Amino acid sequence: MAEKVVSKKNKTLIAPSILSSDFSALGAEIKSIEKGGADWIHVDVMDGHFVPNLTMGPPVVAGLKKVAKLPLDCHLMVSNPEAWVAPFVKAGAHVVSVHAEATVHLDRLIHHIQSFKVLAGVAINPATPLAAIEEVLGIVDLVLIMSVNPGFGGQEFIEGSFSKIRRLAEVRRAIGASFVIEVDGGVSPKNAGALVAAGVDVLVAGSAVFSQSDRARAIAALRKG
Ligand code: DX5
Ligand code: ZN
Repeated sequence: MAEKVVSKKNKTLIAPSILSSDFSALGAEIKSIEKGGADWIHVDVMDGHFVPNLTMGPPVVAGLKKVAKLPLDCHLMVSNPEAWVAPFVKAGAHVVSVHAEATVHLDRLIHHIQSFKVLAGVAINPATPLAAIEEVLGIVDLVLIMSVNPGFGGQEFIEGSFSKIRRLAEVRRAIGASFVIEVDGGVSPKNAGALVAAGVDVLVAGSAVFSQSDRARAIAALRKG
């Protein structure tokens, strides 16, 4: 499973965030990005506690699973993430990312996610230093760098994220680790190329994809960056 999800490892992956899609037509929205050349489907899970917004839970992921061919990349912006890994895996998640800020037992939680044979990601907020995840970089499958404060789509990219991504890519080289670097928030064709050059493997984009009626063109614009 893990191998299948990251099979395009040498290529930049585009993961449209369905947070910005039309919820009244989720199935059609999924089809449009799959046809348009997306690689993953990014699912923003918010609990109204860890972040000031409430979105979707396992039943929605189970519904997506019925129509989606691409891997479901579930970004859990929730408190008590330990309780939610199993329900999201059962619903069909291929990648489960948890926030380092939301747990005091990150090492245990990563192993717990991996025990389900899905990819384990660790996300950090803009104000959280890389040092907070340093000790798990050798075991984690994916690091998600938040380039906006989580909670909403359509926010402005925080420029300081570039330095964080470059430093993370440098540490990855230095320790010979193989985790994937994903960036999330304010990604657009304006910064996509520079983000890839800084070391990003997976670009999450909500409004940059779903605000355009031509999804294939929007996704291609991100790839060209
Ligand atoms: C923010 C979410 C992001 C967001 C991205 O809390 O994690 O995935 O939806 O949306 P854009 O690309 O519009 O910033
Ligand atoms: Zn996200």
